[in-house]
Amino acid sequence: MYDYNGKLILVTGASAGLGAELARAYRGAGAKLALVARRGEVLEKLAKELDDAGQDVRSFPCDLSQPEKVPELVQQVVSAFGRDIDVVVHNAAMSFYGEVELTPFEEVRKLFDLNFHAGVHLASTVLGSMKKRGSGQIVWIGSGVSYRGMPFSAAYSSSKAAARVFCEALRNELGGTGVDLIHAIPGALKTEFNASQKNYSQTHDLKTTGAPADITDMAARILEAGRRQRSFPIFGRNAWLGLHLTYWAPWLLDRLFRVK
Ligand SMILES: NC(=O)c1ccc[n+]([C@@H]2O[C@H](COP(=O)([O-])OP(=O)(O)OC[C@H]3O[C@@H](n4cnc5c(N)ncnc54)[C@H](OP(=O)(O)O)[C@@H]3O)[C@@H](O)[C@H]2O)c1
Repeated sequence: MYDYNGKLILVTGASAGLGAELARAYRGAGAKLALVARRGEVLEKLAKELDDAGQDVRSFPCDLSQPEKVPELVQQVVSAFGRDIDVVVHNAAMSFYGEVELTPFEEVRKLFDLNFHAGVHLASTVLGSMKKRGSGQIVWIGSGVSYRGMPFSAAYSSSKAAARVFCEALRNELGGTGVDLIHAIPGALKTEFNASQKNYSQTHDLKTTGAPADITDMAARILEAGRRQRSFPIFGRNAWLGLHLTYWAPWLLDRLFRVK
């Protein structure tokens, strides 16, 4: 069992949605937190909510769509707390909606930089010290679309598919090192993620499938999977259903998703 009490956890995308809820869950388990996102004032508010004294929960505003900032970010966190990071949670992500030919390529690059490259760079920056200590965790928040690409969300789907394969490879690479890889694959969640997406399409609107899941419940499941050092991916219910349909009845999903 992994004990989060007293551990230092860096959470990306902690200013909203699942990231903020994960921060609350890890704090409830006694962890110290480095909160990362772009909106510093929102992070400060959450830091105050979780630690009035301002010692154990601190905010580190950073735009992770520039992954070259990651080593400096990690250095800032290590200096502020005076110790190495025990757990990195890569949760921050963006998406947009629209036909491939209507999407500016710069947006695709930015999306991959945030959703994929920033997570890879975070892992590669902290893994050396985790392996040396023989302990630590990389927690990656994936998505059900990593198994089944969604029309009009090709870039987002493929960034999550890249993350899934990266996590599979890393999980086995870490065998025997004492470092765990926890890969969570939620389905739709009750957050602002979909509403905040840019829509480049002139003819289609984003529609979601299935009832969105509660983020407090999802955060609790992710924390429990980490505590139990569960290396096999954990699934949201609707993502689990999507995975099985992808395998057993891909034609049915084609029929559901195909544009008329
Ligand atoms: N919502 C869903 O239906 C759903 C389904 C499956 C998987 N997921 C995954 O779950 C995770 C959390 O999603 P959510 O629904 O909680 O999203 P959300 O409510 O939109 O929150 C996204 C977080 O990412 C941060 N962020 C966005 N751009 C950033 C950037 N350039 N640099 C640093 N931080 C940035 C945002 O903070 P700032 O704006 O302050 O930067 C915010 O804290 C994501 O990995 C998402 O792919 C979501």
